[in-house]
Amino acid sequence: MLTDRWGNEVATDRPATIAALDRFTNSFLSYGTDFAVIFAAADDDPACPAVQTHAAILGLFMENAEGRDLARRYLDRARQALGGATKREILLFEATDAWRRGDMITATARHEKLAAEYPGDIFSIKLGQTHYFNLGNDEGMLRLGKAALAARPDCAHALGMMAFALEQNHRLSEAEAHARQAVALNPGEAWAHHAVAHVLETRGQVGEGIAWMQENTGYWERCNSFMYTHNWWHLGLFLLDAGQADAVLKLFDTRIWGVDKSYSQDQAGAVSLLWRLELRGIDTGRRWQDVAEHIGKRDLVHDLPFLDLHYLKALLRTNDDVAAAGFIAGMETQHDDPPWREVCIPFARAMQRRRRDPAGAADTMNAVIGDFQAIGGSHAQRDLFVQEWIDCALAANRPDMVIATLRERAETRPAVPWGWRLLARAQRLDGQDRAARASEEKAARAADALKESLTEKT
Ligand SMILES: [Fe+2]
Repeated sequence: MLTDRWGNEVATDRPATIAALDRFTNSFLSYGTDFAVIFAAADDDPACPAVQTHAAILGLFMENAEGRDLARRYLDRARQALGGATKREILLFEATDAWRRGDMITATARHEKLAAEYPGDIFSIKLGQTHYFNLGNDEGMLRLGKAALAARPDCAHALGMMAFALEQNHRLSEAEAHARQAVALNPGEAWAHHAVAHVLETRGQVGEGIAWMQENTGYWERCNSFMYTHNWWHLGLFLLDAGQADAVLKLFDTRIWGVDKSYSQDQAGAVSLLWRLELRGIDTGRRWQDVAEHIGKRDLVHDLPFLDLHYLKALLRTNDDVAAAGFIAGMETQHDDPPWREVCIPFARAMQRRRRDPAGAADTMNAVIGDFQAIGGSHAQRDLFVQEWIDCALAANRPDMVIATLRERAETRPAVPWGWRLLARAQRLDGQDRAARASEEKAARAADALKESLTEKT
């Protein structure tokens, strides 16, 4: 029995296995790139259940058929080695096996138990938070974040985990304080850079967001493709709100699309940015084609509803109606649980029929948009679907559907000109000309203030 860097007992007598586990968990917590070492370590130490389980975790994160096969194989080996496992190793095995089977209730319950009994194991806590994130369970993320921080109050990873969980629970000031504390401890803590970006994004602090992210870009060079492209994506969102479409397109071409075109998260980020650009009337050229081609090559879809709606958009946007219809049929065949049946699939069908029946599509989107939390992802990511619903409602001449939401959005992010402009457009459509003029004036004032603040910063 040896001990890993987190103080966990590991059923092995091979120091090389411990070294591989440490490299793997460190990479996971810091969004690094040093993961693949775990496969060779698992092959070299078949009697160690922990290393088999960690190899299976990497397989599942690959988000493709090959990774799923690897996960099954390594979990089979872990199962055979469980006789010598510690209780913690058994719990992590059970959590991972449940994840592979899609039984997320068992998976998250095991991570909760691990957090209660082994709170110093922040690798397990981070993995549990990731599951809760994909399930749209903000309270669960926060509960696990608190456990991590209680066990390791001076750990930048734990502070970053807590910060993002607080942000998802709308506790913005506390989130920002925790994230900045993480960065004070470790200036390269990319997840904490990300948590601050979410706080500034939610508040509509565009100039501050651009400055914050630009200050930290150098640290992301050592990150994996998800964290690298996602943090650049957040910078892209700030630039979009600043009206700098050319800069956003340049980021898309150089930072956001192209790091790992086969990876689910990279694909979703690319779709999300192109979609948002077009919702603001910006021409994205031929960029959809390449994204859609890579999505078309995926051998694993219908894994997460949040991702599926992104994949579908790429198929629809490149006029691949046959593929889109088959894709939606695939969702229906494979899933019948509420996030899919009640939210994702109706919204997907509305996206599909929007061109020929905007009024019907707007009605459907309107009926499900309030339940979108269930499909997972962050508030900032899911806001894309709110934007689509708003756009669809306005195209269908149904401003009444979205005016209250648009007013709330503009007032929550008053420094963002686009929010006021969109509200003004809806008010005009609704015959509220005086209110529209007032909103247009607020948009103009916000644009002037933003221009001035960006000029000061450069
Ligand atoms: Fe994010």
